[in-house]
Amino acid sequence: TDAPLVLGIETSCDETGVGIVRGHELLADAVASSVDEHARFGGVVPEVASRAHLEAMVPTIERACETAGIRPSDVDAIAVTSGPGLAGALLVGVAAAKALAVGLDKPLYGVNHLAAHVAVDQLEHGALPEPCVAMLVSGGHSSLLRVTDVTGADGGVDPMGATIDDAAGEAFDKVARLLGLPFPGGPHIDRAAREGSSVYVDFPRGLTSRRDLERHRFDFSFSGLKTAVARWVEARERSGEPVPVADVAASFQEAVCDVLVRKALDAASSEGIEDLLIGGGVAANSRLRHLAEERAAKLGIRVRVPRPGLCTDNGAMVAALGAEMVARGRTPSSLDLPADSSLPV
Ligand code: KG4
Ligand code: ZN
Repeated sequence: TDAPLVLGIETSCDETGVGIVRGHELLADAVASSVDEHARFGGVVPEVASRAHLEAMVPTIERACETAGIRPSDVDAIAVTSGPGLAGALLVGVAAAKALAVGLDKPLYGVNHLAAHVAVDQLEHGALPEPCVAMLVSGGHSSLLRVTDVTGADGGVDPMGATIDDAAGEAFDKVARLLGLPFPGGPHIDRAAREGSSVYVDFPRGLTSRRDLERHRFDFSFSGLKTAVARWVEARERSGEPVPVADVAASFQEAVCDVLVRKALDAASSEGIEDLLIGGGVAANSRLRHLAEERAAKLGIRVRVPRPGLCTDNGAMVAALGAEMVARGRTPSSLDLPADSSLPV
């Protein structure tokens, strides 16, 4: 039998994403972003995001179907992010998915946003290695997950650790702001860091002391690092000397990537797992990819990172997880499916 044809809708943050897949094959990935509307506020404004989703939803669905060369009625199922994310933003996607499911008489699958960040890798590298450890790093989350079944059945997506304060991407965005770089700051820090020295300042590595490791072995903390960068920049400004932006960016980026990679590989090793998957917007970071591959190779751990376009929020990741749910015979959601802003994995 043919692999399932699934349309997926993602609206948990500021991207309106509609993706269409057939099994592991990507047919369309239409994304409308409201990031430019948020840029002047220096962060995502929930009300602005919800309104932008409403306006973009129908055109984005149409664009995805056109690209895939299908009619909406061709699909086998509709998948949608039901959480976690911004409540009002999620509601727009969930309402649209329900309308499509009812109108087309197709099953509806509510999916977890974090698990979808993991499942998307199948569109690039084929069947997911299970078990694997997944590190998801974005503007909204920084988690280590032990994945034995990406559909989440029987506790198949098990949280090992998470940030106890800021998300990794949030730290990139805040430090970029301190350095006068535009929002979202991650790509700008990545670029600036290439011209700088990563050992210029020895910034703190959060939750890596022996004592912290006892309670927070697989957890992250980035707010102390952000404060350390702010103090360093302020001191430099007070002294009247120019701030070496590239060197600070490189040193900050090294501190983040060092901790992320160390903990992800420790998580995999501790479970005897040989595959590490990295996803979320920060996975686009060039230093993170390089460091992960270099250190993993020494431990015999394989690293999978989807291409940057699939790492940031999109509809294809939702469709990919939906297709997996259909393929594995999971029960569809009821039409009462709630949008749950704090949905656990
Ligand atoms: O997954 P994503 O598109 O949205 C969510 O937050 O869910 O991730 C966006 C985050 C932003 O914080 C952005 O600064 C960061 O990913 N980011 C990067 C890079 N590209 C995007 N951070 C570091 N280096 C990059 N190259
Ligand atoms: Zn995300």
